[in-house]
Amino acid sequence: SSDEEQPSSSTSLPPESHFIGRREDIVRAGRVSRLLNGCRDVLVLHHQGQLYAMDLRCYHAGGGLQHGDIEEFNGKLCIVCPWHKYKITLAEGEGLYQAVDNPLVRPLQTEWRSKGVKQRVHQVTEVRGDVYVTLNTRSEDVESDRYQTHKYRTDSDPT
Ligand code: FES
Repeated sequence: SSDEEQPSSSTSLPPESHFIGRREDIVRAGRVSRLLNGCRDVLVLHHQGQLYAMDLRCYHAGGGLQHGDIEEFNGKLCIVCPWHKYKITLAEGEGLYQAVDNPLVRPLQTEWRSKGVKQRVHQVTEVRGDVYVTLNTRSEDVESDRYQTHKYRTDSDPT
């Protein structure tokens, strides 16, 4: 629709891209999850005209992020894990937390800080209304990697 902002669309697809669905179907659903490459549960979500992709299972203890609310903290859009309310930035997968500046000062002053990238985010590409995800294969460990095991695949793989 005309009030939908179009994300940067590209005409060429990165290698190893996985077709997720038509943009309008993802926008309608809000969120979809897919098992990609038979090994990785990925959440694709639409928020305010943008599409994002990240590991489905929260880095903290494996909570399903498909049920998380999206809120802004410190000027950054985050998904809030439904299990223990950890906040994860949509664009970078950073864990945000509120730190107390000085515990001796009352009332306590808090500020948002980043724990660094904790949730692996993946690349979304759109070509003529088709949405693809390219897995982020950077080799540094990201904490959410540890939930990519058989134990946690049952949600998106009903067989
Ligand atoms: Fe996500 Fe604990 S599992 S906050």
